[in-house]
Amino acid sequence: MNALVLTISDKGSRGERIDTAGPSVCKALAAAGYHVIDNIIIADDYNQIVTNLNQAVNNNINLIITAGGTGFSKRDITPEATKAVIERETPGLNELMRLESLKITNRAMLSRATSGLKDNSLIVNLPGSEKAATENLSFILPILEHGLQILLGEDSNCGIPLK
Ligand code: MTE
Repeated sequence: MNALVLTISDKGSRGERIDTAGPSVCKALAAAGYHVIDNIIIADDYNQIVTNLNQAVNNNINLIITAGGTGFSKRDITPEATKAVIERETPGLNELMRLESLKITNRAMLSRATSGLKDNSLIVNLPGSEKAATENLSFILPILEHGLQILLGEDSNCGIPLK
């Protein structure tokens, strides 16, 4: 499975902040066996996000992870841009991430992250801080491969225990 990380941050895209979330997410994905194509940093700009997500879908990237832009700031529009691209929502991922995150911090309620499917791709929003991004990813990572295999028609047997 291949993966792409899209870090969404105005300051990061202008080089005013060193992004640590993107590299940590890439590391976790690689450790889980994903071939990580790139970590692209873009601004909190609706059109840029939609364009980059569509490009990744057209390039058949199986797992597209976004980091940042899920909160309450007026510039936080990652979930809205994601909803414009996906064809089918995957609410269970969002529910699990928020459920587990709320056990760590009540601030997890402030993430509006979403996720969904288009063609051969799953897009998942993560919050932007390194801590929040890696925590959220850790909750879904063990199950994602099975979902992606079903998406790609490689495995529809849910009865086989996971590795
Ligand atoms: N989820 C986890 N697991 N751990 C965290 O520290 N931080 C929260 C939330 N989700 C957090 C978390 C905070 S403080 C915010 S504001 C939101 O994610 C949105 O983050 P974003 O605006 O960087 O996307």
